[in-house]
Amino acid sequence: MPMTRNAAIRVISPEPTDQPIGTAHGDFATVAELTAGLLASRASVSPKYLYDSLGSKLFEAICELPEYYPTRTEAAIFARHGAEMAECVGRRGTLIDLGAGNCAKAASLFPLLEPKQYVPIDISRDFLNEAVSRLRQRFPQIQMEALALDLSGRFMLPTSVRSEARTFFYPGSSIGNFAPHQAIAFLRQVRENCPADGGLLIGVDLIKDSAVLDAAYDDAIGVTAAFNLNMLRHLNHLLGADFDVRLWQHVAFFNTDDSRIEMHLEARCAHAVRWQGGERHFARGERIHTEDSYKYTRDGFSELLREAGFETDAVWTDDAGWFAVFHARACNA
Ligand code: AVJ
Repeated sequence: MPMTRNAAIRVISPEPTDQPIGTAHGDFATVAELTAGLLASRASVSPKYLYDSLGSKLFEAICELPEYYPTRTEAAIFARHGAEMAECVGRRGTLIDLGAGNCAKAASLFPLLEPKQYVPIDISRDFLNEAVSRLRQRFPQIQMEALALDLSGRFMLPTSVRSEARTFFYPGSSIGNFAPHQAIAFLRQVRENCPADGGLLIGVDLIKDSAVLDAAYDDAIGVTAAFNLNMLRHLNHLLGADFDVRLWQHVAFFNTDDSRIEMHLEARCAHAVRWQGGERHFARGERIHTEDSYKYTRDGFSELLREAGFETDAVWTDDAGWFAVFHARACNA
């Protein structure tokens, strides 16, 4: 239903006034989606529900962990090759940040890219709002248009977003949350919002030793565990559910066959969970699948870009080859 999807687009005002439509908890579509996932024989919840306000803060903390190499590796690639990237991207265009979070990565590129307009998009509205008000003070010359938008559905950018020289910025390997066929569908959506002179600057985590991957998603001090478990608090809020966080544990591992990290929440003992419109008994050891994080080879990802209508024109990596940043141009595929 396109109407419902478009209703999710909200222009962020300095003081948030709009409340979600529906029940005291999440809206009806959210409750239905979550209920279907929780009642499936292999229970699952979309990773987008990891990001309430606390979840976004916990993710920021993950990015500072020594085990979590993607953020610092990608930042080093930007720092080292930023000037070259600016040559590919072009200056004074429109920078559209998909899943902006705290906007720090894009902000680090502002001095090089000098965008005319910056359009940060994130599902975590209040968190984004705060980040953008800080950024507006630091960069008053850049026009900013923040959008609270769920990118997991169909999306169309509002007309307030400049159509000239659009570069879609998708750092951090967030693309890894999609299965490859979904990633293609998502990037085709991006392509549809991308004029002929547009492009994509995207960070992608690469396949590497399993031990490095496992540690990155199961850190020693348990920040990633807290991030995963926090989803249950978020679900309690959205669904009026009675998840007891203490009865669950974090499980994360690299699934070599499918080339993805899997995160799950595992019941420590048999118990029942109830929520608005549903209930389920979980056996001891039963899991809720909360996230996939796909890893690619350089060639594999270029091929995926091609299938989505983008042609790779540059790839930058770190010396160890752990992470890659691609620049790709819109083409007709
Ligand atoms: C935000 C999806 C890129 O997959 O590495 C980090 C999320 N999950 N630790 C990732 C995440 C657990 C992250 N992405």
